Amino acid sequence: MIDVKKIRENFIIYQTQPKLCYLDSAASSLKVKTVVDQVNKYYHTLGVNVHRGAYELAYEATKQYEDARITVKNFINAESEDNIIFTRGTTSSLNLIAKGFEHMLNPGDEIITSELEHHSSVLPWMVVAKSTGAKLVYVPLTKQGKITVENFKSVLTSKTKVVALTHVSNAMGYMTPIKEIASIAHKHQAVVILDAAQSVPHTKVDVQELGVDFLAFSGHKMFGPSGVGVLYGKTSLLNQLEPYEFGGEMADQVFKDHFTYKDAPLRFEAGTPVISGAIGLAEAMRYIESIGMDNIEEHTKKLHQYTLSKMKDIDGITIYNTEAEMPIINFNVIGVHPHDIATTLDQYQINVRAGHHCAQLVTKFLDVNSTLRVSFHVYNSIEDCDIFIKGLKESIQFFNGF
Ligand code: ALA
Repeated sequence: MIDVKKIRENFIIYQTQPKLCYLDSAASSLKVKTVVDQVNKYYHTLGVNVHRGAYELAYEATKQYEDARITVKNFINAESEDNIIFTRGTTSSLNLIAKGFEHMLNPGDEIITSELEHHSSVLPWMVVAKSTGAKLVYVPLTKQGKITVENFKSVLTSKTKVVALTHVSNAMGYMTPIKEIASIAHKHQAVVILDAAQSVPHTKVDVQELGVDFLAFSGHKMFGPSGVGVLYGKTSLLNQLEPYEFGGEMADQVFKDHFTYKDAPLRFEAGTPVISGAIGLAEAMRYIESIGMDNIEEHTKKLHQYTLSKMKDIDGITIYNTEAEMPIINFNVIGVHPHDIATTLDQYQINVRAGHHCAQLVTKFLDVNSTLRVSFHVYNSIEDCDIFIKGLKESIQFFNGF
């Protein structure tokens, strides 16, 4: 059982904004104090580079950075810390894979993706499909907008080389049955890439159990710093990917006209890495573990279902994802632009997201230009849900007069 009052003691923003009703954690979570403390500590007590210096401070910084890699490895149950690459975020992880794969794709090869993808999961493949002559193939969605194993099978062919899907849709909160999909895709020798930006912060994710080849997520949606993310990849595949950044510490031997790469992870970490970000992310993972991911999931599920049940009683709204497995509600107020509602809610310090959520294929699927999105995390309370419902009713009253 989560004690929200106690949890909020760890989120300093509630001291400066006691009335904050933050319902936009799918965009970015609030930041936990111990994460900020660890980041500050690195800058105050070390602040030096990693992997380079032959002095005590550099050894200590390298140790903390590499220990963070081990923490991430354990958090998602990767085979080894060498399967963990630190990046700038999910977007750079997913771009790294697509660009790295480019040289392995040929005209006519097929890349399976879906209309549920965040732009960062589909645009890199659009670009790579164009440059290689490969073809993007979309899994047909169900009427509700879900990806099913059956629909996935209907587009899988002997030409499928890549399956790039979201684990949890950032707009709809639907969970993709990726374990079954990965197992079927592997029988066709396709490589499976998972955008886990919305799942790793909210539910236990075990890469070996899911059986995916690559997985990407960000620190900032799980109480960690922004500017750090993770790319997990299987060793043999990682070492086939071409890096797209070149520079310090990623090369093994350098000659006048060519150079050789180090193995992953350093192969993909050219230049000074996000040292403080990695250290902060590891602290965020320890924080989540101290509460228990199962407890977090149970708590946010309760808030989600409670809010949904209250919203179902409100006239004049359309909810697009009543069957979402994850704590995301996507809706519109009939006849009112989502930005107007979001701006009105902000007057009560209720923060929700309005727009296409960087997932324009989803809004096109729903046949609208934009929607409102509410999302929850561990610091939200039932009181937040009630404040939101009251604010929403008042906004509807203001705009629609009922
Ligand atoms: N991807 C983030 C969102 O869904 C920014 O809002």
